[in-house]
Amino acid sequence: MSDSIDRPGIDRVPIIRPFAPQPTADGSRTFYSEEFGEFFHSHHGAKQEAESKFVRSTFLHEQARKPVIHLLDICYGLGYNTAAALETIWRENPYCQVVWMGLESDATVASAAITHHLLDDWSNDVQWRLAEIARHQEFEDTYFRGKLWLGDARDTILKVRESGFGADAIFLDPFSPPNCPQLWTVEFLRYVADCLKPTGYLATYSCAASVRSALLEAGLKIGSTSPMGRKTPGTVASWSDRKLPPLSQREWEHLQTRAAVPYRDPTLSDVPETIRNRRHGEQETSDREPTTQWKKRWKSSNS
Ligand SMILES: C[S@@+](CC[C@H](N)C(=O)[O-])C[C@H]1O[C@@H](n2cnc3c(N)ncnc32)[C@H](O)[C@@H]1O
Repeated sequence: MSDSIDRPGIDRVPIIRPFAPQPTADGSRTFYSEEFGEFFHSHHGAKQEAESKFVRSTFLHEQARKPVIHLLDICYGLGYNTAAALETIWRENPYCQVVWMGLESDATVASAAITHHLLDDWSNDVQWRLAEIARHQEFEDTYFRGKLWLGDARDTILKVRESGFGADAIFLDPFSPPNCPQLWTVEFLRYVADCLKPTGYLATYSCAASVRSALLEAGLKIGSTSPMGRKTPGTVASWSDRKLPPLSQREWEHLQTRAAVPYRDPTLSDVPETIRNRRHGEQETSDREPTTQWKKRWKSSNS
């Protein structure tokens, strides 16, 4: 359960041209980020990840029965999570109106995805609307009203919150916690939680104890999403635990270890190194169980 297990770092891949499509195991393609030293999606399958970790985990096939659905896509990137969501919603209910907000710091990612035809796996209705979003950052018609907020998500989340937006589903998809700690802090996630409806669900690919404890500190309940042939589960969060798939005993115990010390960014403005160092300092003085002890205990109980 390391923080970045599904998205290998730069030490494990050759140098790749920026935004040159890279294949993943399900045949869909992704990009590699030189800046963060990570792929944008799991190498097990980018499309599969969007469908299983984000869309299914937020119960969108059921939520689509409503006449209107509000979606918030944090770290829009190539747009796969939104594409998979729209496909599911309109398959279940072609008349569903989607009100959408996306947060992203780099507009060139979405444009590159369109240029390389990476959204061609989804239906035309989805493709052309997201091409409009990539081009103009805004689009509105009868079934879709969307705005892509460009900039640091720590700033743009405040605008979303000020607008009174309440999401039925939030996709939380930054690069891994060690590489992008600023989008996994308790303070940032509190603002994200403010944008979640009482009946909504937030999904992320991460099962890191630091992320789960930050979600709990933000006041949400958490569940574990199924691995779907993958090594690690993701996390789903909500204000109520009524429908959340429960964590295992092993996962709950992980949350008592030093790995569960969350990232903090009190002013929402610190650089990643400061945020990492702050957490490291808190871990050093913590009286929580060392994570190695937890690992050893569960290794021996499995054998
Ligand atoms: C793991 S990728 C997201 C993949 C995306 N959800 C998709 O389906 O294609 C992370 C994204 O976060 C963006 N990002 C990085 N730092 C950010 C920040 N501070 N604020 C907003 N977006 C950021 C990156 O440009 C990248 O597109």
